[in-house]
Amino acid sequence: MPAEAADSGASSRQQIADLRREIARHDAAYHGAAAAEIGDWDYDQLKRQLTTLEGQFPDAANGSPALAKIGDDRSGIFPTRRHRERMMSLEKVYTAADLRAFHARLAKRLGSDDLAYVVEPKFDGLAVSVTYENGRLVRALTRGNGIEGDDVTAHVRLIPGVPSELRTTSPPSVIEVRGELFVPFAEFARVNTEREAAGEARFANPRNLAAGTLRQLDPQEVVRRGLRLVFFGVGACVPTTVLPETQGDLPVQFTAWGLPAIVVRQVWPARGADELVRAVEACRVARTEFDFPTDGAVVKLQSLEGQREVGAGESAPRWAVAFKFPPDRTETQVRAITLQVGRSGVLTPVAELVPVVLSGSTISRATLHNRDEIARRDVRIGDTVVIEKAGEIIPAIVGVNLARRPPTAQPFEFPTQCPECHTAVAERKGEVAVRCVNAACPAQLRRRLEHFASKGALEIAGLGPTTIEALVAQGRVKDLPDLFRLRREDVMSAGKTSAKSAEQVLAAIEASRHAELWRWVYGLGIPQVGTVAARDLARRFRTLEGLMTAKVSAAANEREKAGDPALRAVVIYFADAKNRALVAKLIAAGVRPVGPPEPSATAVAGKTFVLTGSLPTLTRAQATGKIEAAGGKVGTTVSRHTHFVVAGADAGAKLEQARTLGLTIIDEAALRRMLLEE
Ligand code: IVH
Repeated sequence: MPAEAADSGASSRQQIADLRREIARHDAAYHGAAAAEIGDWDYDQLKRQLTTLEGQFPDAANGSPALAKIGDDRSGIFPTRRHRERMMSLEKVYTAADLRAFHARLAKRLGSDDLAYVVEPKFDGLAVSVTYENGRLVRALTRGNGIEGDDVTAHVRLIPGVPSELRTTSPPSVIEVRGELFVPFAEFARVNTEREAAGEARFANPRNLAAGTLRQLDPQEVVRRGLRLVFFGVGACVPTTVLPETQGDLPVQFTAWGLPAIVVRQVWPARGADELVRAVEACRVARTEFDFPTDGAVVKLQSLEGQREVGAGESAPRWAVAFKFPPDRTETQVRAITLQVGRSGVLTPVAELVPVVLSGSTISRATLHNRDEIARRDVRIGDTVVIEKAGEIIPAIVGVNLARRPPTAQPFEFPTQCPECHTAVAERKGEVAVRCVNAACPAQLRRRLEHFASKGALEIAGLGPTTIEALVAQGRVKDLPDLFRLRREDVMSAGKTSAKSAEQVLAAIEASRHAELWRWVYGLGIPQVGTVAARDLARRFRTLEGLMTAKVSAAANEREKAGDPALRAVVIYFADAKNRALVAKLIAAGVRPVGPPEPSATAVAGKTFVLTGSLPTLTRAQATGKIEAAGGKVGTTVSRHTHFVVAGADAGAKLEQARTLGLTIIDEAALRRMLLEE
């Protein structure tokens, strides 16, 4: 063999091995930790490169690390169950020529060139399969490895719009409906804003949020984080006579059954290759209008009969392909890297960019997340970077164009001091964040005040960032309680020049003393406590004083402490003497938030409950906590003295006993009503 050929074989072997290793690493990040490092597009390109190389050097692939054929999203924390019919993936295509080749393949198999298709958006979330038996929802599974998936039934039951029963008197005896779990953009933005306000890390994109939510053991998270489900396919179905003849009619049937389905304006029919190419382009253009994330279009053969006829290959059906859209990208230069000091002191590096238009909006900043991220991407001041908008409102820096790196490009030195108060920064074990640990840091104070006055919190009109900045700079507000000592002159010298607008701000601050308790619980800015958790805590503790004592009662109940991150965060917050002093000062300043309405005395207080079976959303510890907080008691055995038996799924002997004794049996919804939660 000529030396040259041997060399190229050796280097290809190396290249193939490297590619495989890199892909395996991304697979682990994508499926395991639910935090992907690179975008789908780049990932797909790596895979394509590998396939091409392997095609050219079939021998070179030997000895390289093995690659999984299909992904695996099983988390290991949920029980798994088998799908009745395998869940496959789709072959990906990228160009008009690929689409034409797909059509040509089908035309050959079916012996006709006149084929009808539908083009649908490819929802960017997580695949799920929901089984209805005799019309009742019995199970929901993730794709898993295609054969078996995580049992996420409790989570899926809580998704708005997913019916527990099909709306029909003659349901199939069994049907697996297949669809995608996703988070709409508006919900994604809301969750991230709340997380940022609570000092938590943002989710990189809606899919990570959906995946992360599904991994939460508490199914209620599904509601808090706005998950949705759309159905677009069928797995096993007995009898198949309930199904329509075409793919395009499937959403019609789904809608009739009450299942959330793709709507008409999200479907493009096409006949033949030319129309198909145009339909995919139409879908691509329309996608900017969708309020849900998409990463491509799915092309499907209309005829379900035809679909059955062509069948499937090893891991994908032959009757459909996924056309992947390239992400919206552009290049621009990093002018500077600045630091933002967050409410809890976290320093977030931000790339200040030469303004550039991307997907219709002008971009001049992009977050660099943290110190490690800058190092990993090796972003330097003066670099030309590639930015991408992929479902994110804030664009991400996806890479550096090294070919355009000027010799003057400056690596960013992460400071050892807070840029605002110059206190030495610190890192907590196990966290990537670098923090300013000075609780009196003016930047942190400003952020805390901004959060306090913000919409979800105390909503103090007129107390915006500019006024806050002036009040802090003039030393008039050194901490939250100082707000309640402000005089008209203070507010006027902070920029509210008319006496009237100054009075309005003061009146709004005044009114906040008696705002609803949950607003205060949220407004304090305790990490992990978003608005939903704040409402929950307000119901349980009823007063600020009660919340401060959460420490004792929570510590007394280990089970609860472990199961409720918000409660744990409150306990940690009030373990800090500074925070206790702060709230005491607020109370001394006349802050008296209004608690939620008392649970009706007749309903829960003084009554004895027994819990049996598994409730749809509450754990036993949570239900016990709620009943006890409302003055009720929870017993373990059913007797004539039991007032209410709360029964969930698979309730056994206790339920039988309750029936025999003629006790009142209620479900979780009724319990919530008694607790005045609904
Ligand atoms: S049809 C054999 N239609 O993409 C799979 N899938 O890569 C047939 N997806 O697992 C699926 N939107 O989770 C289909 N309109 C759509 C889709 C869609 C998103 C997901 C689905 C599937 C994956 C395949």
